[in-house]
Amino acid sequence: MVDNFITSGEAGSKPGPVPHGRFIRHDISKPLRAGAKVDYILQAAGIASPFYYRAYPLETLEAAIAGTKNMLELARKDGAKLLFFSSSEIYGDPDAKHVPTAESYRGNVACLGPRSCYDESKRLGETLCYIYHNHYGTHATMVRPFNVYGPGMQERDYRVLPNFASRIKAGRPLRLYGSGRQTRTFCYVTDAITGFLLTLLRGAPGEAYNIGNPVPEVSMLDLLKHTEYALGQPVKHTLVEYPDSYPADEPMRRCPDITKARLQLGYEPRVSLGEGLKRFFGWTQAHFTGDSKQ
Ligand SMILES: NC(=O)c1ccc[n+]([C@@H]2O[C@H](COP(=O)([O-])OP(=O)(O)OC[C@H]3O[C@@H](n4cnc5c(N)ncnc54)[C@H](O)[C@@H]3O)[C@@H](O)[C@H]2O)c1
Repeated sequence: MVDNFITSGEAGSKPGPVPHGRFIRHDISKPLRAGAKVDYILQAAGIASPFYYRAYPLETLEAAIAGTKNMLELARKDGAKLLFFSSSEIYGDPDAKHVPTAESYRGNVACLGPRSCYDESKRLGETLCYIYHNHYGTHATMVRPFNVYGPGMQERDYRVLPNFASRIKAGRPLRLYGSGRQTRTFCYVTDAITGFLLTLLRGAPGEAYNIGNPVPEVSMLDLLKHTEYALGQPVKHTLVEYPDSYPADEPMRRCPDITKARLQLGYEPRVSLGEGLKRFFGWTQAHFTGDSKQ
């Protein structure tokens, strides 16, 4: 495992023993000497939460571009299989006729703006995988994850569900940004990991796969209702302006078409939103402190 701890939080920066492996503190935007032959590379290093990529735009670019190129070089030299963690954000803000969004959709993305560092660098990371596959025959596949959640997320991740969980723990009203009508789908972590590993092992090299749970597509106001149901109690909320720490221009809808992953990989998400939220909030009630400051 390799991490430079830029956003890993306190728990993540004190990793315990890694079963059958070791931990290397390293910034992957610099070349890495693995010290042994590598068979598989999961290039998941990145700055994933909008709160953090607003704070670290250049580091976001470096991780997805220089970092992915360094990992591809390693894969090329060792003949390893590489999986690049791209993002659903590479689709930008699709218009309604492209939602649910299939891999063939080319995107509606801005190269100038507060989200560009993430969206555009993930797009270029995919292009690098495509080039290494076509030019050198490197076995590189890509996943485009759609809002993964579950136990293990850090309280100061600042994505919507950890924000909800921290406020619930503190007994404070939930804050919904903007109108609360923007939609997302949420994929429970075990379903996501199954999809990632299926892509690594069965995916066609040089290609990208949507991994997420397409149902239900919920607005943030709907997510609040699902949260109340999972907790078995009403939860107070307020609608607030987007904070300065959050990049503007967020996509209004986000929902995957997973037909390609279903047909080519045999991927099928199994954990419903209701069940996943019960498990997640059960875990956060035991592990969060209520001090995320969001
Ligand atoms: N979680 C999601 O819903 C989601 C959705 C779309 C895409 N992704 C992508 O999947 C990957 C994993 O997401 P996650 O939610 O587990 O993120 P995460 O923030 O929990 O983990 C990413 C890790 O990468 C590390 N990192 C960042 N830059 C680095 C660098 N230059 N060198 C070494 N380590 C570095 C961070 O310290 C962090 O621990 C990311 O690349 C993210 O962009 C995630």
